[in-house]
Amino acid sequence: MSLDIAIVGCGGHGRELFEIIRAINEATPTGPRWRVMGFVDDRPSEVNLKRVQRLDASYLGPIDWLREAWPSTHVVIGLGDPRIRRTVAQRVEAYGLPVPSLVHPAATLAPDLVSGEGLVAFAGARVTTNVAFGRHVHLNQNATVAHDCVLADHISVNPLAAVSGDCRVESGVLIGTTAAVLQGLHIGADATVGAGACVVRDVPAATVVKGVPAK
Ligand SMILES: CC(C)(COP(=O)(O)OP(=O)(O)OC[C@H]1O[C@@H](n2cnc3c(N)ncnc32)[C@H](O)[C@@H]1OP(=O)(O)O)[C@@H](O)C(=O)NCCC(=O)NCCS
Repeated sequence: MSLDIAIVGCGGHGRELFEIIRAINEATPTGPRWRVMGFVDDRPSEVNLKRVQRLDASYLGPIDWLREAWPSTHVVIGLGDPRIRRTVAQRVEAYGLPVPSLVHPAATLAPDLVSGEGLVAFAGARVTTNVAFGRHVHLNQNATVAHDCVLADHISVNPLAAVSGDCRVESGVLIGTTAAVLQGLHIGADATVGAGACVVRDVPAATVVKGVPAK
């Protein structure tokens, strides 16, 4: 059996999701397989269109292409910026398409994880016990989320970033590559934690913090 899926975004993040789907298919030779119909994007650059071609994949057209894809095509939002992902997800939700979670076979998620639709876990991502995610949470390569954390909707945890136990992260937050968030902290909606930061106190909504300690 195969399930159709379209990826939103011809950029790097979207094409990385193509690779995750390929790895999932390889790891489950007897289970249902994803058939990537192609990529949709409102403004793909020429260079990204060529990169899509090199994957032997198709560019299907602008995002509105999905309107015609109802009801059988699944959709995943391949956009790394959590705020842009939120905007596009809201638009795509109106089309009523199913939104799966994509977990690379080399990711490790605790069985008691509770997650909304659209979770993407890259290779090496790890989530331990009693964690809850909202919708469209993306954990990039080797990102970790520890015990008892709650991450709301549309959050990106970039490569090698570590969210310690008991943290609460609100919607639209980006946690930059290799950043560390110490235990028990609250990160307000639409905040950005810079790459390499060490967050040692709560982060107010819609602010950017960076450095060690993060300010
Ligand atoms: C923190 C961040 C959001 C700041 O972005 P920005 O507002 O566009 O910042 P700018 O590039 O204009 O830099 C502003 C200043 O902050 C410094 N700076 C930028 N990022 C920094 C970081 N992560 N840590 C410490 N300082 C940083 C710059 O050197 C610059 O300093 P200066 O004014 O003394 O020259 C961004 O640099 C960042 O770290 N984003 C996360 C990126 C990431 O995770 N990428 C991986 C994708 S998979």
